[in-house]
Order: sequence, then structure tokens, then C-alpha cells
Amino acid sequence: MLGVTVRVVRDDLNHPVVQGNKFRKLKHNLLAAAKQRSQNLVTFGGAYSNHLIATAYAANELGFSALGFVRGDELEGNHAIWSETLFQCQQLGMRLEFVSRTDYRLKEQASSIKHIIGQLNHPFIIPEGGSNQLAKAGVAELVTELVHQRVQPSQLICPVGTGGTMAGLIEGVAQHNMDCQVLGVAVLKGLQGVKDDIIQWLGNQKTRVNWKILHDYHCGGYAKSTPELEGFCIGFTQQHGIPLDKIYNSKSFYALAQCIKSGEISTKDRPAIIHTGGLQGGVFETL
Ligand SMILES: Cc1ncc(COP(=O)(O)O)c(C=O)c1O
Repeated sequence: MLGVTVRVVRDDLNHPVVQGNKFRKLKHNLLAAAKQRSQNLVTFGGAYSNHLIATAYAANELGFSALGFVRGDELEGNHAIWSETLFQCQQLGMRLEFVSRTDYRLKEQASSIKHIIGQLNHPFIIPEGGSNQLAKAGVAELVTELVHQRVQPSQLICPVGTGGTMAGLIEGVAQHNMDCQVLGVAVLKGLQGVKDDIIQWLGNQKTRVNWKILHDYHCGGYAKSTPELEGFCIGFTQQHGIPLDKIYNSKSFYALAQCIKSGEISTKDRPAIIHTGGLQGGVFETL
């Protein structure tokens, strides 16, 4: 684009359901659950959550029971407003518990949630979005793979929700002493606090890695879009044959295009953008 060669790391091709960063983030969590001889995975997500369905699928494949706490008690018993994601989670054997937004915010601290978890034998709790230290380790392996392929990007770009994926990329860049900036594209409005979560996952130590979160490309907020974003994604897919999910990669790829247009990323650079999957959530279609 404008003379800049962009490498697209097609991590979305790693699995049809446990796709992209989901595979990376779940891998060490599932290994830890198995090591602890836990049979019961517990996690959290919204009605369209890629993480929820990835966990349901992985649990089903590997013989775990799975319980998903879903944001929004209005969904309880009201199938008419269920997403395809929820139906699929249920078909994969995940037990769904719908909780109010207040309880959802509190997670395991909410007494209703604590009570349900308390009834399970050796539950293994995976946080919302699958983000924790184990997820960070899994994502860092992606950077190791790039190093083995002798890919030496000047920037690594990814979308940011909970920040676990970005923390993993920063960790990987640090492990390999790479001269590479990590750029995260916030997909939610007002996500300033995620920086502290990332710092915490990095062990509260100052890292030498140059990393920055871009907050200007959420296009109105989570799952919101603009005609410009939609036009960009449709055109990009037509030109390159690479589908972009509506929620995450649409915004990171759009942000990269804008950075190239503005000259922030130039022909001197070798940007690599991670396609983190999420395609079950749908793509923008031409009318
Ligand atoms: C497809 C996809 N890409 C990126 C992200 C953002 O990752 P993170 O929550 O680790 O910031 C998510 C959410 O987990 C996702 O589902």
C-alpha cells in the first residue's frame, strides 16, 4: 500500500473455530487445567463472544465440561434474541448461565456467580477474553514462530480488547530482543485502562519494548462501524482475498492503512499485522 510492503500474519487460518488469538490464548490454559486435573472449565463472555465459542469447542474436543457466564440476564430462556454464537455454544455442550450486567462486571466476586462456581468440582477459571499470564505465553509463541521464519518486522500490529494478545506480542518481542514496535488498536471507546492491565501482565516491570495503543480507530465503539470502515473492509477483501471480521481485524487493518496514509508508517518500515481471526462474528458485505 502506497509503496509500503505489509506482511499479513494469517493466524486466522490456524483453526476454523478456536481461531487466531483464541488458539494462542487457550493453549496453556487448557494444558494447566489438564495438569491440575480439573474437569470443569469456567469462563465469561458476551452473546457474540469469540472466546466463549472457542472455549466451548475446545472443551468439547478435549473432554472438559464447560460453563459460560453470559452478560445479560434478558437472554435467559429468550431464544428469540439469542445469537448464533450462543446456540453453537449450547450445541457444543457448554452450560450457559445468564447474569445481570452488574454481576457480570463483578465476575467471581458476585455472590450469584460465586455460588454456582462453588458447586463445581475443581473449577478452572479462564478470565473474560481468555486473557491472563498463560494466554500471554501462548501469544508470545507466535513471535517465536516469526523469528524462526526469519521475519523481522519493524512494527507488529494487533487489535486490542482485553489486552492479553498485545501483552503476549510485547512479551515475545522482549524475549527475542527484537527491534520492533508493538502497536495495538483499541476496538472499544474509552479503553485507556487496558494499558495498566497490559503492564500488570508484563509483570509490572518496565520493558524495553516500544509499545503504544492507538485509540482513534474504534469507529464509535465496540461492534460499531462507519461507512468508511465498511467500505475499507469490503475493498480490502475484494483486492486481497482476505476476510476481516467486523469487530476486531476490520479496525486494526483500517488503522494500519490510515497510519500508512498519514506517513506514520512509511516505505522505510516493514509492518506485520496479525490477523487474529474472529470470523465467526461475520464480515461486512456489499449490499
Ligand atoms: C478475533 C479477536 N481479535 C482480537 C481480540 C482482542 O484480543 P484481546 O482481548 O486479547 O485484546 C479478540 C478478543 O479477545 C478477538 O476475539
